[in-house]
Amino acid sequence: MSRKAKGKSSPPAPIDRLTPIEAAAEHAQLARAIDRHDLAYHQKSAPTISDADYDALKRRHEAIERAHPNLAGARRGTGIGAPPAEGFAKVRHDQPMLSLDNAFDDADVAEFERSVRNYLKKDIAADARLAVVAEPKIDGVSLSLTYADGRLIRAATRGDGETGEDVTANVRTIADVAAELAGKTHPARIEIRGEVYIRRDDFLALNAGLEKDAKPRFANPRNAAAGSLRQLDPAITARRPLRFFAYAIGAGEVEAATQSELLDRLRHWGLAVNPLAKACADIGAALEHYRAIERQRADLPYDIDGVVYKVEDRDWQRRLGVAGRAPRWAIAHKFPAEQAETWLRDIEIQVGRTGTLTPVARLEPVTVGGVVVANATLHNEDEIVRKDVRIGDRVVIQRAGDVIPQIVRVVAERRPRGARAFVFPETCPVCGAPAAREDGEAARRCTAGLGCKAQLVERLRHFVSRDAFDIEGLGEKQIEAFHAQGLIEGPADLFTLEARNPKLDPPLEEREGWGEQSAAKLFRAIAARRKIALDRFLFALGLRGLGQETAKRLARFYGSLDRLSDRIKAAKDRESEAWQELTAIDKMGEIQAGALVAGFGAKATRAMVADLAKVVTVEDYVAPTRVASPIAGKTVVFTGELQAMGRREAKAEAERLGATVAGAVSGKTDYVVAGEAAGSKLTKARELGVAVLSEAEWRKLLAG
Ligand code: IVH
Repeated sequence: MSRKAKGKSSPPAPIDRLTPIEAAAEHAQLARAIDRHDLAYHQKSAPTISDADYDALKRRHEAIERAHPNLAGARRGTGIGAPPAEGFAKVRHDQPMLSLDNAFDDADVAEFERSVRNYLKKDIAADARLAVVAEPKIDGVSLSLTYADGRLIRAATRGDGETGEDVTANVRTIADVAAELAGKTHPARIEIRGEVYIRRDDFLALNAGLEKDAKPRFANPRNAAAGSLRQLDPAITARRPLRFFAYAIGAGEVEAATQSELLDRLRHWGLAVNPLAKACADIGAALEHYRAIERQRADLPYDIDGVVYKVEDRDWQRRLGVAGRAPRWAIAHKFPAEQAETWLRDIEIQVGRTGTLTPVARLEPVTVGGVVVANATLHNEDEIVRKDVRIGDRVVIQRAGDVIPQIVRVVAERRPRGARAFVFPETCPVCGAPAAREDGEAARRCTAGLGCKAQLVERLRHFVSRDAFDIEGLGEKQIEAFHAQGLIEGPADLFTLEARNPKLDPPLEEREGWGEQSAAKLFRAIAARRKIALDRFLFALGLRGLGQETAKRLARFYGSLDRLSDRIKAAKDRESEAWQELTAIDKMGEIQAGALVAGFGAKATRAMVADLAKVVTVEDYVAPTRVASPIAGKTVVFTGELQAMGRREAKAEAERLGATVAGAVSGKTDYVVAGEAAGSKLTKARELGVAVLSEAEWRKLLAG
């Protein structure tokens, strides 16, 4: 490149020439530049470019958005944040993505071997060895990759195991994931599964960068991998140091008699396979390998939380099959949780979203498995009594994965003379209301409901959190301040804040910690959530017994907020059909159903829902496409003359298989099927970088 070309940037490419990925990358880059100039202009009063140049940036940014409307929702200038689940198309897995049963010690592993032998009975002689592959269990997120004719056509997250999210555009940015399989031995269609992860050093660098940009950091490499994979903007994913290990196949057939051969195949096709995967002639050898990996654990560049054993013989794997959600032919041998000793300085009570009083141990900070721990949970009052924990004690704490550290036991020999017993309060330490314990429950709860400041603030925090309304710019500090300043009493007040703002004294932008930019950004973030999916809305209410999974099941079952409210109200009568119906929902126990009926029936909840209904639209549940087909949820355009069938028949077939057939090619098109003498649509597809299939390739894709 000549000096001149380097010094002066070339004119931007015409927008209609950009491929979707290029458009996404440039869109993100422009957004960052605009944010930077906005900041310089508004907050530092030091504009860095001329108004005309600034306007040109904005115009191009908007023009890209017009040409690629899917980018319009992508947030500007935010480094992280799982996008709303509705941001990705849903993908139904051809074969469910399973989890693994766990073994915590050698005896559990011996039990695994016994059950495998029992199942296979006479096919494995009592004295024959059971060969397995042993490989590290990567602490990342699982991913499914579908290759058709050797080309990557789809990447999906695990989701709930049945339905995941289509993250193809993001996964195309991961170097370890081959866009095309090498060699000639791959089947026409194959689904490959593995783990996306981030190395520890990359994770630290990523967090340092986020911190420098004053953005929230990730708690651990796994969260960083999950968050980076689920970015709405593939250009952001592209900058994240994601890596991948392949370890299994899903739908499709591979000629491999053993698991080791299968791994060889994956390696041969150009996929990264963990180098520590080892063929072990029997379980004894596998346990040895486990200990070898355990010794290397701290030196490995990525986090692992155990070793997975998989029966070598793939015929046996097929016969062993699946029990519940896990295969009978594999088991995860977990590493023991990491422990350390320290002093218990104090016990404090935290009041949670549903009023539960949780005792929290304040510790002399200590490093456990590379993480500094200063707090641990003591669960509830019975736990303190059972373990006879006293303030001042020497205690053993334990940390496993990213769960909250726990106190395992007291080191009795080192109890100091002054150690004192903790008296569990019978009133709420925040609002003073009685804290009651219901029969059969371990938790003591503040009885003031949303009248308690701690409960209200926790509920509001939950309401705006990622998996609920996902309103960025509102952390604990801001919410506490809003509440203390009388700006919000309940979640519905968030949606009237912008309208009330001009009359506030002072308005938000003049309050401490806020400026015009940040206030405007917050109002935008709130306005963007005036429409919300039913399951998110339910989860956001923060009721007891209403987690994310339950919220999804309720949304799926009742379909609309009105119907759900009516039916749950009717379910108060335990003789009613509505109660039968509620308790018949998958995984719904009577206790949980009772908590839901009480939660929805509470005056405070009814008032909250009624207030919210005035300011937000709760969308009815829309079922994801149920058809398990390679083109479900895809947008297809036919062009040119087809040989095997007429255009109408082809269209009907595609629609039956769950695709949407469009008349024109756009950035949203997934496939263009080009018959004879295809014209302008084909040209357009090439320009936009849309996948073009011949009629034969299309038939192959449908055949699976
Ligand atoms: S095999 C059919 N192998 O662990 C068995 N899983 O707890 C499917 N994982 O969802 C999984 N490393 O995300 C397998 N070497 C490995 C793994 C591994 C990590 C994850 C995977 C799975 C979870 C189950």
